Amino acid sequence: MITFDRNSQTFYLENDRMTYAFDIFDESLEHLWFGAKIGHDDLNYLRGVRGSGCDAQQPDKKLCPNFLANELPVYGQGDFREPMLTYRTEGGDLCAELHYTSHRIIAQPALPGLPSTRGGETLEVTMNDDINGVEVLLYFTLHADTGAVTRACRIRNVGSHTIRLLRAHSFSLDLPRNDLDAISLYGAWANERTPERTPLHHGVWSVDSKRVSSSSQLNPFVALATREATETSGEVWGFNLVYSSSFRLFAEVPTTGHTRVGGGVSEFCFEWILESGEEFCTPEAVMVYSDRGIGEMSRIFHDTYREHLIPERYAKAKRPLVVNNWEATYFDFDRDKLFAIIDASAGTGIDTFVLDDGWFGVRNDDHSGLGDWFVNTEKLQGGLKPIIDRCHERGLKFGLWFEPEMVNPDSDLYRAHPDWAIHSPGHVPAEGRNQYVLDLTRADVRDYIVRVVSDILENHEIDYVKWDYNRNITEVFSEGLPAERQGEFAHRYALGLYDICRRLVLGHPDVFFEGCASGGARFDAGMLYYFPQIWTSDDTDAAMRSRIQYGTSLCYPLSAMSCHVSVCPSHQTKRTTPYKTRADIAHLGATGYELDVSRLPAEELAQIPAQVADYHAMEKLVLEGDLYRLAAPFDAGYFCFELVSKDRSEVHVTLMRLLKIFNCEALYLPLQGLDPDALYENTATGERLHGSTLMHVGLNPAIGNMRDFDTLTWHFKRV
Ligand code: GLA
Repeated sequence: MITFDRNSQTFYLENDRMTYAFDIFDESLEHLWFGAKIGHDDLNYLRGVRGSGCDAQQPDKKLCPNFLANELPVYGQGDFREPMLTYRTEGGDLCAELHYTSHRIIAQPALPGLPSTRGGETLEVTMNDDINGVEVLLYFTLHADTGAVTRACRIRNVGSHTIRLLRAHSFSLDLPRNDLDAISLYGAWANERTPERTPLHHGVWSVDSKRVSSSSQLNPFVALATREATETSGEVWGFNLVYSSSFRLFAEVPTTGHTRVGGGVSEFCFEWILESGEEFCTPEAVMVYSDRGIGEMSRIFHDTYREHLIPERYAKAKRPLVVNNWEATYFDFDRDKLFAIIDASAGTGIDTFVLDDGWFGVRNDDHSGLGDWFVNTEKLQGGLKPIIDRCHERGLKFGLWFEPEMVNPDSDLYRAHPDWAIHSPGHVPAEGRNQYVLDLTRADVRDYIVRVVSDILENHEIDYVKWDYNRNITEVFSEGLPAERQGEFAHRYALGLYDICRRLVLGHPDVFFEGCASGGARFDAGMLYYFPQIWTSDDTDAAMRSRIQYGTSLCYPLSAMSCHVSVCPSHQTKRTTPYKTRADIAHLGATGYELDVSRLPAEELAQIPAQVADYHAMEKLVLEGDLYRLAAPFDAGYFCFELVSKDRSEVHVTLMRLLKIFNCEALYLPLQGLDPDALYENTATGERLHGSTLMHVGLNPAIGNMRDFDTLTWHFKRV
């Protein structure tokens, strides 16, 4: 619920576990609390403590802002920490002075042109800078069911002169502590999202992307945790941007006893011109508080994204169980090879065949064809229709790969429109995977993409699309923008991307879209607004996947992770892991197969129906359940995930041994989140144990028998 206490001038956003509070103080907004639920008491005594430091050092009232906890810090009048908003007037003035004007409580509004969560209650606070003619609408949204609070703002030029935005972050708040750790997710291609924890020191710590995508290097997620916080205990604050372009998230420890945390669109090379009457809307930031450790933070993010972000129609729906031909054939396929895969998949439980890269233009390797979204009938005689028909005859649905944002220099599209590719005047553009990126800031480019992709979708029976994006953007420049607006490029690219996603994805609601960017290079909440799931990584080796899926789960639900069984030795790591392990790890997400089913050894093909049945038995837990991470593959000899149904009647546990240790010590594996009084039955053995026993004594697997990368699974149901 969101309330305003007129006496203390305090706003409260709260549910039964959490309070977010700030007040109107001297016409600015002072942050009071984001943490465990507290009473509606007068928190003026906090201000007194801060004020004494201020008075002693700086008697000038204008310098006090540096000691205040501010919801909307700006630069210019004595707050020397990282601002949330910076702008320059036509006259060159950088001094911003925003004061509270009004507020109202409304149903959560959509953010123009941007993906955002839905279904919450929003406090809109209007702040005005009368000297410079700027109005800021601050949005604070509460999702009371999960306890997540989100923030965004709209900055309007209500004066008559040009304003240049130099920084427009989505949120900022000052936590009353200076002894926190930061947890972030770093990575690389095929090795995405490894958690990293570091103590914050005095000064500024940050993560960012300058790639015009959220990137596999650093994800737009950060958690701050008390030093003693663990997976199951302690206080943790999580922050995630619903955004897919260059970003920055930071934590600053000044010498006032606070930690300021904030971020949003990256200010690197950012400059956005607001003419009189124009406005800029920031992406949304999602903020989560947990007093039960990192695991609970993750569960709040997962619930929030499943309930309020991922397309409603698909969020909890059974996902297509696909076979994808990429690792089976790469570019080397023809109609008969595809028929063989389709035929071999029929009757196994696999329900969708996805044709990956190479079906269009002239594309027999990655040097040509991108941009020419016309079926290559030389390679596929008769076009897509015979393949789609074959799928339907065998009881399968059909999916197709696109990389809509790209163009190869060797393509008809590039020959016709070389200016559509992003390039900067006079520079030879860098090629990444032999391709360029199309300039989505231009409406004509977007219209072309929407037209040609729609044409394929509307003239064929396509149930599924894999939307790929395989390089970073360089030579950042647009011929469609005047010189003084080039600083708008990175955000305008995101707006262009969201525009084509809105038209193509939301415009074809019956088609299921999966996101991808060389695997997980754009695995973010912005894309999840359009794509219910994202190809988590190009690395399909089960041991690597346990790390990648673990890290990804810090912020994103299992149902958002597309995870496939592939062959061994792994094409990426050359490692061999047991077939059962590959299936068990791939079942901890939206599962499928990434191999040539037509050439699988007979005994492996014969196991697919049982693997699919195992998956269906746990699928509801993957789509809707609570995740408990029992062991991390980075620091333990094991990886272990436990999935529990919301009503606690069902639980699934997957344990993977990393490297076998001879004559190793016994392992006790206490479960979490069960009903202590209930009796649970092991569905495989019939053994019955109480929830309390499972949670305190735990499982005691015979790990002595487990070889490298072996898995064990357990499934219990409440009797
Ligand atoms: C990217 C994707 C792969 C595959 C290839 C096709 O690398 O992540 O899954 O689709 O492109 O070129």
